[in-house]
Amino acid sequence: AFDKEVQDLLKNMSLEEKAGQMTQIDIRNLLNNGYGNTDEKLDTARLKEAIQTYHVGSILNCIQAYTPEKWVELISQIQNEALQSPNKIPVLYGTDAMHGVGFIKDAVLFPHNIGMAASRNDQLVSQAAQVTSTEARSVGLTWNFAPVLDVGREPYWSRFEETFGEDVYITTQMGSAAVQMMEGSDLTSKTNIASCLKHFIGYSAPKNGIDRTQSHIPEIVLREYYLPPFREAINKGASSIMINSAEINGIPCHGNKWLLTDLLRTELGFTGMVVSDWEDVIRLHTWHKVAATPKEAVMMAVNAGVDMSMVPNDYSFPKYLVELVKEGKVSMARIDEAVGRILTLKIKLGLMKNPLPSIADVGVVGSDAHQQIALNAARESITLLKNDKNILPLAKDKKILLVGPAANSLSALHSSWSYTWQGSNESLYPETTKTIREALEASGNKANIRTNATTGFDDAANYDVSFIQKNTAGVDVIIVCVGEAAYAEQPGVIKDLNLPEAQKQLIVAAKKTGKPVIVCLVEGRPRLFPEEEALADAVIMCYRPGSKGADAFAEILYGDINPSGKLPFTYPRYDGDITTYDYKFKETEQQLKPGVSEFVAFNPQWPFGHGLSYTTFAYSNLNVNKSNFTKNDSVLVTVDISNTGARTGKIAVELYSRDHFASITPSERRLRKYTKIELKAGEKQTVSFTIKAADLQFVNKDLKTVTEAGAFDLMIGNLQTEIYFNE
Ligand code: IFM
Repeated sequence: AFDKEVQDLLKNMSLEEKAGQMTQIDIRNLLNNGYGNTDEKLDTARLKEAIQTYHVGSILNCIQAYTPEKWVELISQIQNEALQSPNKIPVLYGTDAMHGVGFIKDAVLFPHNIGMAASRNDQLVSQAAQVTSTEARSVGLTWNFAPVLDVGREPYWSRFEETFGEDVYITTQMGSAAVQMMEGSDLTSKTNIASCLKHFIGYSAPKNGIDRTQSHIPEIVLREYYLPPFREAINKGASSIMINSAEINGIPCHGNKWLLTDLLRTELGFTGMVVSDWEDVIRLHTWHKVAATPKEAVMMAVNAGVDMSMVPNDYSFPKYLVELVKEGKVSMARIDEAVGRILTLKIKLGLMKNPLPSIADVGVVGSDAHQQIALNAARESITLLKNDKNILPLAKDKKILLVGPAANSLSALHSSWSYTWQGSNESLYPETTKTIREALEASGNKANIRTNATTGFDDAANYDVSFIQKNTAGVDVIIVCVGEAAYAEQPGVIKDLNLPEAQKQLIVAAKKTGKPVIVCLVEGRPRLFPEEEALADAVIMCYRPGSKGADAFAEILYGDINPSGKLPFTYPRYDGDITTYDYKFKETEQQLKPGVSEFVAFNPQWPFGHGLSYTTFAYSNLNVNKSNFTKNDSVLVTVDISNTGARTGKIAVELYSRDHFASITPSERRLRKYTKIELKAGEKQTVSFTIKAADLQFVNKDLKTVTEAGAFDLMIGNLQTEIYFNE
């Protein structure tokens, strides 16, 4: 039951007002020359029509990054109009602040989630979430379509960079840390906003990687790998959830009552609001063909459990909804349930009492303190994948030849949801943001850097191989910056995971000079270069490191910062050999004998969890306080970590388990715990983890989550011990 304020509103509202509350339109619909025009002034007549005629409850989006002041003005104008409506219900404004508030000019942008996962530092995720919610709230943006909780097990998927990688546990931990910090304990606070878990569920597993297309996920797999992050974030109090645009096992998620009601509400106990993805209600008719008419699509989605429809902009959704209620095809009780949830969120956010943002609050946007957190996050995410003969770090007096498109691209460092949807308009990036070339030059070594400022990622003509050949005299090292241009959603679809040939040729040309070659990767997913990797002396993975990414890269290159990122995914060697670290085909490993083709073996370019440091660490004394335990107690696992090198360094300590025998094939290993510590040269620290029965569970063939009695290996670093679980 809803509280009294909501119940009173529901009593006073007409059916049309309720249908309007369930409608979200794109701000571009309200701009003076209509949808898609670049003149960004609000058309007051269209705004009035949206609020007073159609009773619109929510708006999203922005054409391009507005200044904080412009946002305050825009949202105030909208809320002032809403205050003129019969029940004075403010508008809920939604945005995609996926790694910082990408649509506020000068907002701080963090590494995309794929980099945050590499940091193995949940605290950084929390800090980034707090900065994001504080900056968003300061301009009146109170609802964030984040975090992405889709597990990234399909690197072809164009939104891989938005995931926390392939591991369920990391996604669960980091996703719920983000939700907790974004929402806090009081959603009226100036540092909190509503989160939106997305995309429920299975969105990240399209069969061939193409965004918004079907996936086939047996329920046992869905429950084992895709459900846990959502379950945990719901338990942590997430306010809303967005639905997967695509279909699973032939059933479009937006029309799937089992998913949106039985699983989400009854089993997971979710009480918040369900929003569709972009136009996905109508697409039950236009794309999925499960509804014969747009009106039937509305009926199907609302009856399945969708509370709010994100666009279409033509107000057909509320119109059909009103008709459907009058025809008895959607019940009034279902409408009241959906609207009650929407109103509850608006009240929880304090919008009824305090709908207007204040210009006095916008000073937080892009503050120095926020920039520092973005820098820390980039420093801890960047991952050193290869460092033959310790060629890195470089002394600052080394003469560098810097080539490759990623050296000169601001947008590649940020990619999706960065000042624009695609993140590709470089004129919108804050002046404080540097390219890799600018960051290296700013480190005081401009005279030592020779570069040719190429920019194209796919066009061979832009890659000046002859520039390399002609410019090696006096050079100590060649840095080749390769990867991917910015992209988001469907425009990021690719047909080949290999690095484009023209970029590979840069590495080949660099190697031919006889100089040491350092490859810098700026990419949202693993792009393959198996032959050329062998030519590199060092490889540094930057992912999409955000506003301070280039600065962090320069610090790591020169050794001012010791790298500590660990791969959050298995970096495949070949296109036809994509897998995850928790694979189940142990027999393939057993077949890897001398003379046996690597075709049958688990043989990635770099394994999940790989990441080098400029110092060395040793693990010792792996102990458990008991070797037998039951569901009523737990095991305390301790291990000593020593910094055996000459520099201070951070290390992510990871605990994996392996089930000896189980009723279904056990995984090769599963990550169960991690923590990150810093050790000075020569320092030693004891790290402890608590393992309970629930930490070792899996989904069995009856779709039940169980921990079966028996032996488990626990592995930390190169050490291993055994424990026994008795039911
Ligand atoms: O939040 C996004 C979603 O992730 C993809 N489609 C559009 C939505 C709103 O921008």
